[in-house]
Amino acid sequence: MIELGIGVIGYGFIGKVHTYAYRNLHFYYDPVPARVRLVGVCTSRAETAERARAHGGFDVGVTRIEELLSRDDVHAVHICTPNALHHDAALAAIAAGKHVYCDKPLARTVEEARAMGSAAAASDLACQVTFHCRFVPALMRAKQLIERGVLGRVFHFRAAYLHAGYTDPARPMSWRLDKEQSGGGALFDLGAHVVDVVRYLLGDVRRVHGSLRTFIAERPAPDGSGPRPVEVDDLALMQVEMNDGSVGLVEASRLATGSNDQLRIEIHGQKGALQFDLEEPGWLRVYRAEGPEEPYGGERGYTRIECMQRYPKPAVWPGPKFVPGWLRFHAASVHAFLTHMVEHSPASPSFADGVACQEVLHAVQQSSACGRWVDVARES
Ligand SMILES: NC(=O)c1ccc[n+]([C@@H]2O[C@H](COP(=O)([O-])OP(=O)(O)OC[C@H]3O[C@@H](n4cnc5c(N)ncnc54)[C@H](O)[C@@H]3O)[C@@H](O)[C@H]2O)c1
Repeated sequence: MIELGIGVIGYGFIGKVHTYAYRNLHFYYDPVPARVRLVGVCTSRAETAERARAHGGFDVGVTRIEELLSRDDVHAVHICTPNALHHDAALAAIAAGKHVYCDKPLARTVEEARAMGSAAAASDLACQVTFHCRFVPALMRAKQLIERGVLGRVFHFRAAYLHAGYTDPARPMSWRLDKEQSGGGALFDLGAHVVDVVRYLLGDVRRVHGSLRTFIAERPAPDGSGPRPVEVDDLALMQVEMNDGSVGLVEASRLATGSNDQLRIEIHGQKGALQFDLEEPGWLRVYRAEGPEEPYGGERGYTRIECMQRYPKPAVWPGPKFVPGWLRFHAASVHAFLTHMVEHSPASPSFADGVACQEVLHAVQQSSACGRWVDVARES
């Protein structure tokens, strides 16, 4: 079995998640695609780098990306920094011949994303985006059912990604609320995931009508030095028209009181319908409009399919009957990345998927600014 060396850039919230996935992959999968060595972790300061090294079990902790990229024993890097750093880190990594696993959104602007997509396409490296919702078994099953024609012609859908973490006006400024560092608010943070789920299940978006709102327009500075203006959205509302003519309503909110981590999608087709809610991740609800509805409704109605964690082999543990959780989806996503590296197969979801998603987010920002429908501009 080959050994692959991994470097992780950024060790805040998500850097730990990616590291956890590698550390536990051999529990979930037998065999694993490769033996993994966690070679190095990079953070912005020496103290945090040393803490991250010890916490994640890396060989080295560094403060400059080049210290990871110049090493022959680092084969892939994970980009887990604020959005503004994704572009430079990814281009440097690709130039150094490293595979890249970049968290979402791919970048801060559509131009940056396209440059990253072009560099990935021109290389023979696995370049994957962390759209881990594509690794939820119930959504994988939803895609199969749609492709098999269970819904027939899709008419319309609604999708939402709802969090409630920013309802308190006393929550201070952070990079996520700073346009320079994030590129966008709820739209980029949660909208990236829900737009990708829509693309994964239903194909490309043709045009959008977006409305972005910032309800809490000032927040305290992190050092308590007084209020700072918030330049990014708390809520993104999108009306979307798909390439196949279906239409949908898509929502991303960080002010959705009552939600935890709620990604919902409901799709209505001529022959059937689907419903999924990430807060009940083991279940996919499927409605088939065919079959007798008599007597008294016959057997019509939504079926709740027990997708649970029925991943295909080599997934072995803890077994198909258990409700899967958020970390498990990340582990499946990292497993796919490792497999692509070992098999030299095109990564999926790819940087091209990241670019296509970013093009939708960009069109939503443009539409919100001008108040009109905007075509999603594709990279030529
Ligand atoms: N896929 C998901 O489920 C998911 C969830 C959360 C965050 N994310 C994405 O992950 C990325 C990071 O988010 P987070 O929540 O982990 O942020 P965070 O603020 O918790 O962590 C950011 C990390 O980046 C490090 N960093 C900052 N500047 C750096 C530099 N110049 N060099 C090296 N390291 C640097 C910080 O030290 C910190 O460790 C974002 O792009 C975010 O959108 C994805």
